[in-house]
Amino acid sequence: MERKNLTIVGGGSTYTLGILMSLIEEKVTFPLKSIRFYDIDSERQRFNAEAAKILLQELYPEVEEVIYTTNKEVAFTGADVLFLQIRTGGLEMREKDEQIALSHGCVGQETCGAGGMAYGLRSIGDMITLVKDIRQYAPEAWILNYTNPAAIVAEATTRVFPDDKKLINMCDMPCIIMESYADMLGCELWDLVPEYFGLNHYGWFTRILHRNGEDLTQKIKDCIINQGFSATSNFIANEPSWQETFKNMQTMLKDNPEFLPNTYLQYYLYPQKMVAKEDINNTRARQVIDGREKEMYTICKDIIDSGTAANANLESDTHGVYMIRVAESVVFNKGYRYLSIVKNNGIISNLQDDAMVEVPASLYSDGVKPYAIGEIPTFQKAMIESQLGYEKLVVDAWFEGSRQKLINALTLNRTVINVPTAIKIVDDVLAANKAYLPQFFNDNK
Ligand code: G6P
Ligand code: MN
Repeated sequence: MERKNLTIVGGGSTYTLGILMSLIEEKVTFPLKSIRFYDIDSERQRFNAEAAKILLQELYPEVEEVIYTTNKEVAFTGADVLFLQIRTGGLEMREKDEQIALSHGCVGQETCGAGGMAYGLRSIGDMITLVKDIRQYAPEAWILNYTNPAAIVAEATTRVFPDDKKLINMCDMPCIIMESYADMLGCELWDLVPEYFGLNHYGWFTRILHRNGEDLTQKIKDCIINQGFSATSNFIANEPSWQETFKNMQTMLKDNPEFLPNTYLQYYLYPQKMVAKEDINNTRARQVIDGREKEMYTICKDIIDSGTAANANLESDTHGVYMIRVAESVVFNKGYRYLSIVKNNGIISNLQDDAMVEVPASLYSDGVKPYAIGEIPTFQKAMIESQLGYEKLVVDAWFEGSRQKLINALTLNRTVINVPTAIKIVDDVLAANKAYLPQFFNDNK
């Protein structure tokens, strides 16, 4: 099998080593010739990459070249696949997003509501520039984007690159939820076939089938209702906040047993409860800074200092394996069926065509082929439409520098709704992000 060249954009991410472990695990099905890391923060990336070199030398010597760089030409030229996992503003700005929303009594979350708006406003510009630059140096490469908020990023990039069939927006959350279903039922994650519709971080599983055709939906619902639900995916199983989120799936299902919800719906369906449990000085960003980030730094330092990864506590994870299987599917034309974020164009027949929806699709070398969903029920349709209005208005606002559109966006978002609150949040977000958003400060918009 022909070996491929992979570039990880956002090489300094706390996810990078987990992805490498997953690449090692998947080396037979997705063999690599080279791995390149790209980041704007060279020091942060250096730790991951120096540790990666040692790890790969020991466990994946077939990789001929491992380099890290802040030079786009070096990073992108010759790449077959790029994983995009950038975070403009870093975890520090994530913390600020969460705190601003909470300080106004609203949900403070990375990708939902006011936090999602702020993060989206920062991501859009960098993502557009990145895709442009990648296309300059690697016109034929597959760009697999996991940068958040994926819904807003997908909406923005599809406006600028409407014909780019090799730019795919994905999210691991449904897979991580399904991993818990599989563990609950005693079967394999990759044997489960989801039927699902929605927007990114805003959707529902309508059915879960086993690959052998058995419909497992009712069994899963019964298990969750009777026994509860927990996160079993190794990369979040030890995180109290994720366990709390998974536990809430039981409440969500009890309160509306129609479909199996995405975890992120908790923020939209129970915003008051989500705000009440938060500590503004210890939001999720702070937990990641004090937890996963420190832990990864220590692991890297140990590997670098000892010169071996033999004692490192590292495992592959579903997040990484999922990305790699998506890459394998498009590069080697496998047609694997995964959820993907695509332009609606009639897939959900009673929803506007230009919505970026998350639905099952088969992934081939000539592109992503989504399956028709048909009509969705009134409740979910109406929820999706208000959220879609928020997403589209955030993107409009970014292009136009329109403060008013941001206020309208938050007015539509179930985590805010109240106009005076929307105004206060927007002004705080713009003030905190002035350096990233000059278009909002040009005149009196
Ligand atoms: C899931 C979502 C990602 C999100 C991540 C945040 O994996 O699918 O989109 O970025 O959770 O996790 P964290 O542990 O950083 O809160
Ligand atoms: Mn996601």
